[in-house]
Parts: sequence; structure tokens; C-alpha cells
Amino acid sequence: MVHIERGKILELNDIYASYGSSEILRGVNMEAKKGRVTTIMGRNGVGKSTLLKTLMGLVKTTKGDIVFNNYQIEDFPTFKRAKYGIGYVPQGREIIPKLTVYENILIGTESRSDRIRKFDEDEIYSLFPILKDFRNRLGGNLSGGQQQQLAIARALVGDPSLLVLDEPTEGIQPSITFEIAEVLNNLVEKGMSVLLVEQKLDFARLLTDHYYIMERGRVIKDADKDSVDYDELKKYLSV
Ligand SMILES: Nc1ncnc2c1ncn2[C@@H]1O[C@H](COP(=O)(O)OP(=O)(O)OP(=O)(O)O)[C@@H](O)[C@H]1O
Ligand SMILES: [Mg+2]
Repeated sequence: MVHIERGKILELNDIYASYGSSEILRGVNMEAKKGRVTTIMGRNGVGKSTLLKTLMGLVKTTKGDIVFNNYQIEDFPTFKRAKYGIGYVPQGREIIPKLTVYENILIGTESRSDRIRKFDEDEIYSLFPILKDFRNRLGGNLSGGQQQQLAIARALVGDPSLLVLDEPTEGIQPSITFEIAEVLNNLVEKGMSVLLVEQKLDFARLLTDHYYIMERGRVIKDADKDSVDYDELKKYLSV
């Protein structure tokens, strides 16, 4: 039997962050458990992406600390956070259009801690068969849903223990969102931890163990999937 640890993989303590003089995050507290899906929800502009960027070191924390796998990482550069095991799938996917599917995935190996710049193609293509068919196509020629699968594949080859996804369903067809949910659930079953930002409740419900709701740069509510009031939660969503 696979033993999955249920400890914390991530803790965000009293996180503040700004763009210039405008303060966006104002004391965010949250945690993510190992082998679980933790989902952050909230309307457009409340600071969800900013929080993930702060976690990745793309936006500086002005106050607060980030503990990942027992390491305090808020002063680490982005590449080091990735090497320690945080795989990031940004909002909008950020696929490189002029590189092939294979080359786009290969970029993700830069985040491996073992300096190996290869990945197991069979393993990745078993998760996302379409990427095998399109291996030599340019990333820019893929549909939104295919690009999303590519972005997840790119993060996975960095060998993360925490996969961070920013609105993976944005602008993609429902059929592909369900495929993505299935892949993520399979990864979680094998022990992967996931931090998800999502606005589509139907998708979030397929995965989530614990919800956090953000408003104006703060967490205003959190609840386990068993005790969450979905009608109330919907009031905090744009869609
Ligand atoms: N690079 C930036 N410079 C200045 N302000 C920014 C920048 N990026 C985001 N903002 C502002 O910060 C606030 C939070 O943005 P953020 O992208 O974190 O929201 P979000 O919750 O992810 O929204 P969405 O659901 O639309 O993705 C918004 O008011 C946004 O306009
Ligand atoms: Mg966002």
C-alpha cells in the first residue's frame, strides 16, 4: 500500500506584497497539505495570481514568511524554489510559441535538482497522449487546452512535490478540463500535492480537499470539502 504523508507541505504566514505603491496582498495566511489539493478561489483582481507569484519569487514579499517542506524560502530566487520542488503552471500558460512541444517540455527539466536534462517521454505522453501526436509541432499552433496540458507537462518534468496551477481551465473546452482533472487526481493519488487557483467551481469540486476564499488581498474564509457551503462560496466568484 502506498503510504501518503498528511503533513503540511506549504505554509504562508502573514504575506504582504505590492506593485509599486499599491499593496495587493495584505496578510495572507494559508497552508497546503501533502498529497492533497488546496484550492484558492475569489473574484478577478483579489490577488490570487499575485499570491502564487509571491510563492514563486516572481513578486517580492514585503512581509511574512513562506515555509516549503520545512525550508524557509521567501528569500530564495525563483529557480531555487523550483529546484526545491515547486512546479508552477502560470495563468495564461506561457508556452513558447516558436518552440516545439518537445522543446517546451524540455525547458521544465531546468528545474530538476539532479541536473539531468532529460525526461521520460513515455511517462509524460501516457498522461497527455496528445502531446505525443504533436511532439514536433510548434507550441503556438496548439489549442488552448493542449497548451494547458503542455504547461502541466513542462512543470511535471521538473520533478515537483508541489504543483501550483493558476486557473488551468481558463479559456479551454470542458472536455479537456475533465481530462486534466483526471490526470491531476491520478497524480494526487500517487502522492503529489497541489495548490490550485480556480474560479470554476465544477472543476474545483472534482479535486479539492480544502478551500480558501480571497477578497481584497486577504483570506476571508476557508473550509474543508466536507463542511463547505457551496452556495455561500459561489458569492465570492466572478463566474
Ligand atoms: N504587474 C502588475 N503591476 C501592477 N498591478 C498589478 C500587476 N499585476 C496585477 N496587478 C493588480 O493587482 C491586483 C491583483 O491582481 P491578480 O492578478 O493577483 O488578481 P487575480 O485574483 O489573479 O485575478 P484574475 O482572477 O483576474 O486572474 C489587481 O488589481 C491587478 O490589477
Ligand atoms: Mg489571476
